[in-house]
Amino acid sequence: MEETGKIDWYGVKRATEWHTDSTFESALPLLAMLHAKEVPSEKGGTMFADMRAAYDALPEARKQLLSGLIGLHGRSSGPAGERLYGDDKGETDKKYQEVQWPAVTRHPVSGRAILFVNPMHTHGFVGMKREEAWPLIDELAAHATQERFVYYHRWRVGDVLIWDERATMHRGAGDYRPDERRIMLRTIVYPS
Ligand SMILES: [Fe+2]
Repeated sequence: MEETGKIDWYGVKRATEWHTDSTFESALPLLAMLHAKEVPSEKGGTMFADMRAAYDALPEARKQLLSGLIGLHGRSSGPAGERLYGDDKGETDKKYQEVQWPAVTRHPVSGRAILFVNPMHTHGFVGMKREEAWPLIDELAAHATQERFVYYHRWRVGDVLIWDERATMHRGAGDYRPDERRIMLRTIVYPS
């Protein structure tokens, strides 16, 4: 909702494609939190994909390929970002440069391998043509978001959900009627 009580149409579709937050920034967040103030009468959930389990389940040939790849990240410039927002990505004061992250990263605490490619912000790989990279990004996203790796959170007013940014992708389910109120508070935590 806007402050006037009007529906924020950008907000209705915001973040309804799979992503990891802020991978287009030079520093990665550690955790994020959402707190539900008002929720739609049904649906309107948030979905999470476990990118550690998704990595473990990849075919050996894909693990080999990914071990040598560096992902290129921009703000909503990946295939899903283009599908969702196109030229309507919203204004930001900050101008973003392309950022590189290894396609497979290690969890800072557990050391476990994580598939670190998300279709919202990953728009390519170093040394790979776009015609090859975009289908690979979409393939990895389809793999990682199979039902067996996904949790759907059904919101109740008062819920606080905290997630591990590095090890997950998430998206708004985008499955509620856009004339229903949904108000969430959001915080992102960076390592000190
Ligand atoms: Fe997000």
